[in-house]
Amino acid sequence: MTNPTPQTMGQQFGRRSWAEPWKIKMVEPLRMVSRDERERALVEAGYNTFLLRSDDVYIDLLTDSGTSAMSDRQWAGMMIGDESYAGSRNFYHLEDAVQRRYGFRHILPTHQGRGAENLISQVAIKAGQFVPGNMYFTTTRLHQELAGGHFVDVIIDEAHDPEDLHEFKGNVDLAKLQALIDREGAEQIAYVSLAGTVNMAGGQPVSMANIRAVRELCTRHGIRLFLDATRLVENSFFIQEREAGFAERSIAEILLEFCSYADGAWMSAKKDNLVNIGGWLAVNEDDLFEELRNLVVVYEGLHTYGGLAGRDMEALAIGIDESVQDDHVRSRIGQVRYLGELLTDWGIPIVQPVGGHAIFLDARRFYPHIPQDEFPAQTVAAELYLDSGIRSMERGIASAGRNATTGDHNRPKLELTRLTIPRRVYTQAHMDVVAESVKAVYDVRESTRGLRMTYEPKYLRFFQARFERL
Ligand SMILES: Cc1ncc(COP(=O)(O)O)c(C=O)c1O
Repeated sequence: MTNPTPQTMGQQFGRRSWAEPWKIKMVEPLRMVSRDERERALVEAGYNTFLLRSDDVYIDLLTDSGTSAMSDRQWAGMMIGDESYAGSRNFYHLEDAVQRRYGFRHILPTHQGRGAENLISQVAIKAGQFVPGNMYFTTTRLHQELAGGHFVDVIIDEAHDPEDLHEFKGNVDLAKLQALIDREGAEQIAYVSLAGTVNMAGGQPVSMANIRAVRELCTRHGIRLFLDATRLVENSFFIQEREAGFAERSIAEILLEFCSYADGAWMSAKKDNLVNIGGWLAVNEDDLFEELRNLVVVYEGLHTYGGLAGRDMEALAIGIDESVQDDHVRSRIGQVRYLGELLTDWGIPIVQPVGGHAIFLDARRFYPHIPQDEFPAQTVAAELYLDSGIRSMERGIASAGRNATTGDHNRPKLELTRLTIPRRVYTQAHMDVVAESVKAVYDVRESTRGLRMTYEPKYLRFFQARFERL
């Protein structure tokens, strides 16, 4: 694979400059927090950025989940919410939007992505079965495990190397998948769990050629293929940009083709779909849908609202249509890339190539003197907050949790700190501030010490764990 030359969006159009394809109608003032306040807030939060109050944060790059700015059309949609308990007209708008844009037959709303993950895991996994996937995601794997499944990582090796420049680092390694099927038998595989882009690998895409090949393998062995559609629109941008034959096709067309190879998908609509809360589950098989439609009543709500208000479903239906517009996606990924280019120019170690939704600082190279058991990525997040009030998050040993059998830490190869860019929220000037703060923290890296975990919750520990300085 060739090394994709990073380009800001303006350069892609043959010019130096580019601008966001929106103008600002309402502003939310930001609070500057003093160094003393930040020191106090960080200790109170146990050095965990998830435990900071947002009032103590200046630029919030914790996540791109539920943090998007909605458009004037989405806000207008909120006003035509039909809050009937059953059969809300907004549900039918949502159903229509998912069917048109993603191409699946049956749709259920859920309160967010993990609600959908719970349902599909309970219905499609039998205890003891294996669930191969292109790198784990925290909530996805947990639901698969709670349903009695064993997650098996079948992503290509390049995905675990932050310096490898493979253009589609989210791809499944077909030999690894075949070996698992040969070893365990096809009937022991619950389904293949394919995410695009791959969050934990640094927002890395899956190619169209790869999903076609995975589909072919699954069909040959009678195995279902389900997508984590959370950032599939962003995945479609990378296919358009990098894969031969797709440059002239719209992101919307690419998305539809990608989904046509899957049997269904779960979605955290809080990302690509531009809403602050919501999710959905979609499948093609009638029998499977019937089971899911029954189960949704237990965990989420009736199948025509699934935990969402009518107004939320309307904003989501409109957000889906806005999210697949080429201009929007180019500018969104362009902003991420702009920040990545600044950091790369200054020699700061980040995951390459820059992915879709975030810059991932490579904490192993950032703090080579801090061993993984002293939480280098958590340390980067703490130091960045101290320097400027910018909030990022850990994606390393704390996020990886413990091995269910041995009880020891899972030690992922990737030890990363994520600077996640909300959609349509910050300007390029904010990205300059972020880049300069990262550089300031990097410049004093040698004198920085790691952390010790002082409190560890049982599930998804990174959300609520507490630390202190060594
Ligand atoms: C790839 C991926 N899948 C699933 C989820 C879970 O979705 P939610 O946070 O809406 O429950 C997330 C959210 O962070 C995600 O990034």
